Amino acid sequence: MQTVSKSATGVSHGKIILMGEHSVVYGEPAIALPFKAVTIEALTSYSQGEVTINSAYFVGPLQNAPQSLDNLKALVKAVCEKLDKPVMDFDITIKSLIPSERGLGSSAAVSGAIVRSLYAYFDTELTNDELLELIDVGESIAHGNPSGLDAWTTSSNSPIYYQAGDRFEPIELAMDAYLIVADTGIKGETKAAVSGIQKLLNNFPEYTEKAIKKLGKLANDSKTTLIENDSKMLGHYMNRAHYYLRKLNVSDRALDHLVDVSLANGALGAKLTGGGRGGCIIALTENLDDANVIAKALEDGGATSTWIYNL
Ligand code: MEV
Repeated sequence: MQTVSKSATGVSHGKIILMGEHSVVYGEPAIALPFKAVTIEALTSYSQGEVTINSAYFVGPLQNAPQSLDNLKALVKAVCEKLDKPVMDFDITIKSLIPSERGLGSSAAVSGAIVRSLYAYFDTELTNDELLELIDVGESIAHGNPSGLDAWTTSSNSPIYYQAGDRFEPIELAMDAYLIVADTGIKGETKAAVSGIQKLLNNFPEYTEKAIKKLGKLANDSKTTLIENDSKMLGHYMNRAHYYLRKLNVSDRALDHLVDVSLANGALGAKLTGGGRGGCIIALTENLDDANVIAKALEDGGATSTWIYNL
C-alpha cells in the first residue's frame, strides 16, 4: 500500500478573443490574448480508490459528477489512457478565478490545468502538441466543434494569430492602448451559439457566409492595426465586428447594453468577446484614465466585474 502522498499542480489562464470568435470555427483568421489576471489551478494528489473531484461545482467521485462535467470525465480518461495509468487513486482539486461560461476560456483552461497537473503527478514530460490534443478532448464535449483557439490561448504566454489553414502563430503587440473587459454576469452559451450559426448557415448560406467572411477580414485587418499602433482603427473594426456578431445572433441585450455604455463613455470601440449569448464584452481606449472611467461606467451600468488589460 502506498504511504507517501504526493501531489502536483497545473495552472492555465483565461483568454480574451480580440477578433474572430465564431468565424474562426469556419477557418477565418482570429486574434486572441492570454488573460493572466484570471487563472485556474488543478492539484492532483494521491487518494486511494476511485478518482475524485473537488471543485466549486461538484465534490465527489468523478463518475458521479453531473453531465456539465462530462468534458472532465472524458479528459481524465484520455490522459490516463495516454499515460497508460489506471483511472484511480487520485483526487483533482480545482481552484478557479476564471468566471465560468463567460467567454473567458474557463473550459479550455480547466482542461489545460488538469492535463498539466496529471502529467506532472505522473512525472511525464508534456509536449505542446499533446497538451492541445488533450484539451481538445474536453473542448469537443464542452463546445461541440472547437477551433482550437481557446486551447492555444489559455496555455500560451503570447497573443496568438490564427491564420486560415490551421496555423497558430504568436504575435507581438505594439499598441499603446487598454482593453476593459466587462462581465454581464450572465452565463454564456457557447455551444448553443456555435450550433446556432451552423443552423443559420444551413438555412441562409449566403447571408451567413458573408457575415463570417466579413469577421475574418476584420480580424486580418486588425492584425495590421496592432503592428502599426493604430488604436482608432482597431476600435472601428471592433464596432464592425460586434455588428456582424449581432447579425449571427450571438449577442444579446445585456452585451449590447454594455457595448453601448462603453461607447457612450468614450471607448474607441467595443464588442462582445468569446462565445456570446451572455458572457463578456471588451472595450478599447487609449489611456488608463479613460479605461478607469469606462470601467466605472460599466459597473454602474450593470457589469458584475471589470478588468483592465494593458495591450
Ligand atoms: C469560444 O471562446 C470561441 C468560439 O470561436 C468557438 C471556438 O473557437 O471554438 C465561439
